[in-house]
Amino acid sequence: MPRNVTRTKNFVTDAAAFILEQARTALAARGEFRIALSGGQTPRPIYAEFGRIAYDLPWERVRFTFGDERCVPPNEPESNFRMARESLFEPQSIPEKSIMRLRGEIDPPLAAQEYEGALALLAAQRGETIYRHDLILLGMGDDGHTASLFPDTAALGEQVHRVVANFVPKLKAWRLTMTLPLLNQSRQVLFLVRGDKKPQLLERVLAGAPEFPASLVKPPDGQLTWMIDASVA
Ligand code: 6PG
Repeated sequence: MPRNVTRTKNFVTDAAAFILEQARTALAARGEFRIALSGGQTPRPIYAEFGRIAYDLPWERVRFTFGDERCVPPNEPESNFRMARESLFEPQSIPEKSIMRLRGEIDPPLAAQEYEGALALLAAQRGETIYRHDLILLGMGDDGHTASLFPDTAALGEQVHRVVANFVPKLKAWRLTMTLPLLNQSRQVLFLVRGDKKPQLLERVLAGAPEFPASLVKPPDGQLTWMIDASVA
């Protein structure tokens, strides 16, 4: 598993260009681009820039999934889907059939089960035993979490299910999240992290400290890239 760490002052444009390059590579190779979006705030300007430079992509052959979601309705401010809809889906008129939304508004285990089943069906249609993303975007929290895999939570140890509901005690809230088996199946994983995000934590995660969930994303048959915003240090 090759790993690349890039620190850039052109974080938004470089990240958007990276995503577009992966899209073109996947479309040329397999006629489809399977990308999982990350939540939080860091990706918002990147999604907008990606949409701006990718205006000519065949959006009907792009499949958007979500690495995780808050357990709220899609119009709530904290919804990861809402952030993607505002920054990318609506501005680029991306067809609904290209978007697989995690239904944060329903019973969490049911939403996870429904999403896992939909991914399994798509994987089977391509003869895969587990859905393989072309690119998964991830962020990292101040505690080293990624997606909604928080330290000391049940989802971190999940080795069977690909998508689960995960209760996060520190948030006193349920989350929906892809699990490590699914994340580590991806062809490419791109972490997008602001450079002012606890530099010591970042160095420990990059050194592979196992107590941090972000350290555990290591696709054995994929490429791992960390892109760090050096303009905010
Ligand atoms: C979420 C994200 C989460 C996020 C990190 C970093 O639902 O919040 O999926 O894993 O990537 O918390 O968030 P920021 O980009 O806002 O720092």
